Amino acid sequence: MEQNHIPFPYEFEEMTQEEKDENKRLYNYPKIDLIRMGPKGYVMPRAYKEQAESIYNLPIRPSDIYVASFQRAGTTLTQELVWLLANDCDFKTALEVPITHRYPFLEIFMFYIEWKKDRLAKIHEVEESKREHLIKAMQVMTQPVMEKLAAMPSPRFVKTHLPMCCLNPTIVDTAKVVYVARDPRDIAVSSYHHARLFVVFDFGGTFKEFWNLFVNDRFPMTPFLDHVKEAWNLRHHPNMLFLFYEEITKDMKTTIKRVADFLGKEVTEDQMARLCDHLSFESFKKNKAVNYEDLREFGMMTKDEVFIRKGKAGGWRDYFDEEMTQQAEKWLEDNLKDTDLRFPSTK
Ligand code: A3P
Repeated sequence: MEQNHIPFPYEFEEMTQEEKDENKRLYNYPKIDLIRMGPKGYVMPRAYKEQAESIYNLPIRPSDIYVASFQRAGTTLTQELVWLLANDCDFKTALEVPITHRYPFLEIFMFYIEWKKDRLAKIHEVEESKREHLIKAMQVMTQPVMEKLAAMPSPRFVKTHLPMCCLNPTIVDTAKVVYVARDPRDIAVSSYHHARLFVVFDFGGTFKEFWNLFVNDRFPMTPFLDHVKEAWNLRHHPNMLFLFYEEITKDMKTTIKRVADFLGKEVTEDQMARLCDHLSFESFKKNKAVNYEDLREFGMMTKDEVFIRKGKAGGWRDYFDEEMTQQAEKWLEDNLKDTDLRFPSTK
């Protein structure tokens, strides 16, 4: 379907020198280069800017299903649930084909363009038998999204951590979007470990330093609460399903029914039991198609962290001191004044 091209509506701005210096100090990966976008000041890797307009204009097909979130909200769990329901519980394929192949990650390129240049410059250090595989993986990760998505058969499943304002404005009128949200304090803890896991961040600071980046809108895709509010404001749209991690993990069966209804699918008793087992944290940890362990061989991960980590709601209490706890409460209160959005854990 032909869609009109719309100019990208947001301006980009440099971060302050103080912010740039702080990033240099806290991240061990030297190429971290962040900028701000639009009136809310969303933080983006600089490479996003070049493809922002293409992403904004990405043709949407009515059969597309997007899973959107702020990172670490339970995206992978939601993706797997959506994919299985949309594919009549094809567990065989789900276990065989990595989730990264079933769901292109819309903006992954923006984190990996600089990393790819570094790796290519040092490719002679990689074992010869692994070079071809690594080069192919890097090409896939940095390939322009327009090309990647245009070549995909329908229905397409797409993962994104971009705020809704960066996506094609016709998206919810055309396709289906499942957005998953989670208590920001747990997201901050999980994102801290994630920033230590992936070498493109290699975060070297303390959790308190990370929390300060997060709550002061200096981490990629923050301001967090604006990100969630944008999707929350669309939650009554028939093509938008808004989920909370805390509700999914507390009551998987109810979530499965909600997602099945949203996708217009029936679930048998047998399928329900198998889905609950397949989607459990314990199964996910062992499941190579979803646990991202395959990325280790590309030298993308540090050794002391894992992608499928704790899987608990409320774990933030072990990381926050009194000062951070109060800061978080005030931040939530100040930023939720203008909305009826409430996280299940703060009601
Ligand atoms: P923790 O770091 O708190 O453990 P995303 O997929 O958006 O990156 O989210 C990752 C978070 O979801 C991690 O949180 C991860 O452990 C958790 N998670 C992944 N699979 C899960 C599952 N099957 N059940 C519960 N939590 C899960």
